[in-house]
Amino acid sequence: MAFTMTAETKSAVLQKIAKTRGTPVFVVDIEQVRKNYNRFRENLPEVQVYYAVKANPDPLIVKTLFDLGSSFDVASLSEFHLVRKNIINLLPSEQQEFIWDKIIYAHPVKMIKTLHELEPYKPLVTFDNLDELEKIKKHCPSAGVVLRLEVPNRGSIVNLSSKFGASIENAVDLAVKAFEMGFLVESLSFHVGSQCTNFNNYKNGLNFAAEVFNEVEKKGYKIRNSKTGKRILDIGGGFPVEEYGQNVIPFEETAKKLREEMKKLFPENIEFIAEPGRFLVANACTLVVSVIGRTFRHGEICYYIDDGIYGTFSGQIFDHQIYTLKSFKEGEKEKCIIFGPTCDGFDTVSPSTNNKKYPYGFLPRMELGEFLYAENMGAYTTASATNFNGFPIAKTVYVNK
Ligand SMILES: Cc1ncc(COP(=O)(O)O)c(C=O)c1O
Repeated sequence: MAFTMTAETKSAVLQKIAKTRGTPVFVVDIEQVRKNYNRFRENLPEVQVYYAVKANPDPLIVKTLFDLGSSFDVASLSEFHLVRKNIINLLPSEQQEFIWDKIIYAHPVKMIKTLHELEPYKPLVTFDNLDELEKIKKHCPSAGVVLRLEVPNRGSIVNLSSKFGASIENAVDLAVKAFEMGFLVESLSFHVGSQCTNFNNYKNGLNFAAEVFNEVEKKGYKIRNSKTGKRILDIGGGFPVEEYGQNVIPFEETAKKLREEMKKLFPENIEFIAEPGRFLVANACTLVVSVIGRTFRHGEICYYIDDGIYGTFSGQIFDHQIYTLKSFKEGEKEKCIIFGPTCDGFDTVSPSTNNKKYPYGFLPRMELGEFLYAENMGAYTTASATNFNGFPIAKTVYVNK
């Protein structure tokens, strides 16, 4: 169990929370979030961490990372304001400094009304096309800009390059155009795809960025931090969660290889930033649910639980993950079907919605009212949960604050 306590203690704590607070309950181990952040920093000390809030916009997770000195990747106004809540007591000049230095609005396509609302804050925003640049110029001229590059997402569980990033043919011209339009082009960025287990994606991204930096300089412009004069490279997110068990090599090894590659291509005068999302939160959260119904259908035992595909298990659809439900009790296990609480047949947790990748449940015979739990549910789960059919989203309880 990837919680900052022994398995026995965790089991007792989870059951106590479920009994006293009711289910479904989403238990966040704040100490594990701190551990993940520190592990990232220890292994990539030259990289400034911008937590990708979309992975889990829980306010206490954001505050915990803020207190540790983290920066933030936001991609909507509500994420921007969620982070900003942590600085409202600072002087206006300090707030401005924080927003410029520690928040990146990392959505390459922004609504006009979003740009208007961002304008007074002098934000740092990403772009990957000319129309966006013109939009930013017109509606948020105070912005500094970051050019997002398209890099291969081969083998990553969630592909992002199909939607965002300037191609190798366009990137240099776009950067030059931005300078010509009077923008401060502060940085390049890329994203290798989420849950990336293919190191070559990082390698390709770093090489592509090196080429763009150099080509743009040949044309007389320098992509650089307007304060320090150094190049900035944002290596995005994608750092895989080991607990998902998909042949993930330990972060320490990936970090070592990354540092070697970064040093080789960018020996000096460079600042690195990264936007880890899932890496910081996935293993910090456990969901506890109750068995609310039981039946035999066509000879198979089926359980109905009080959370499902429209709720915390939405990650099984959008994030392509499998969250294995386990029982707290021992006993001979049997194959079973596990349904979510709504009226929709699609709301089947195991095997999930007709997708062969998802296994049947495997549990001892459960009684109504007994609890089940699923670990490593911190990323892209509550973030995409809905109230469909009127069922409430799991309540959140924090441990190890
Ligand atoms: C621009 C950007 N940065 C960072 C992330 C976080 O990625 P991950 O959770 O894989 O670290 C995402 C995820 O979609 C993203 O789109």
